Amino acid sequence: MNFKHIPAHVAIIMDGNGRWAKKRGQPRSYGHYRGGRNLFKVATIANELGIKKLSLFAFSTENWKRPQAEIDYLFQIPIEFYEKQKDKFKTMGYQIVFSGRRDRLPKKLLDVMVEIEKTTSSFRGFVLNICVDYGSYDELITAFNQLTPPITIADLENHLMIKEPVDLLIRTSGEQRLSNFLLWQASYAEFYFTKIHWPSFGKRQLKMAIRSYQKRQRRYGGLA
Ligand code: FPP
Repeated sequence: MNFKHIPAHVAIIMDGNGRWAKKRGQPRSYGHYRGGRNLFKVATIANELGIKKLSLFAFSTENWKRPQAEIDYLFQIPIEFYEKQKDKFKTMGYQIVFSGRRDRLPKKLLDVMVEIEKTTSSFRGFVLNICVDYGSYDELITAFNQLTPPITIADLENHLMIKEPVDLLIRTSGEQRLSNFLLWQASYAEFYFTKIHWPSFGKRQLKMAIRSYQKRQRRYGGLA
């Protein structure tokens, strides 16, 4: 791996928690628990490898269609994590931000999100961006509604929740689709799909994705 050519912004669609659990005869909730733990593990690795920003799809604007009990459990994960490991966030060494709608989330989760953002706000360098109640249709429509035509690309980007273009977009668990994640930001992203389920995705897989990225020639519509 060439450490001088690391993608600055990596995005991951963390898919397959349910399948990972099923394979092990465990409930889906256990898969989500392990997926949540893995989120911080992979963030630490991304930081060590020199990635600048990692955007993770934790809960989409469409995930509200899931059974309420599963939604409640998913929201419980960051809350429990924070309550058990408050001090860890103080020494995290990197910034954590949340992107997505804030008007539909339970207050307890919102409070924890704000606390985590505040606790880590002075760290510089790597940014972990956790997308909760995020969807690109929602992000783009909200931005368009804040603007008056004629608008430029720069105007629109100034109104997006996530401003940096994605360099490398990874999806775990075999599916090969974008599912309303970072539609605008991933316009020129390189895609990497792996069959590995999210709770099993680690350093080896992230390095493999980066190696694959480094072999690509990005032309942005131009010639080589
Ligand atoms: C996909 O697995 C994963 C999710 C829908 C949630 C990802 C969430 C976490 C890793 C936990 C952190 C949560 C928050 C809110 C910060 P799936 O359930 O779609 O798996 P399947 O496709 O195998 O059923």
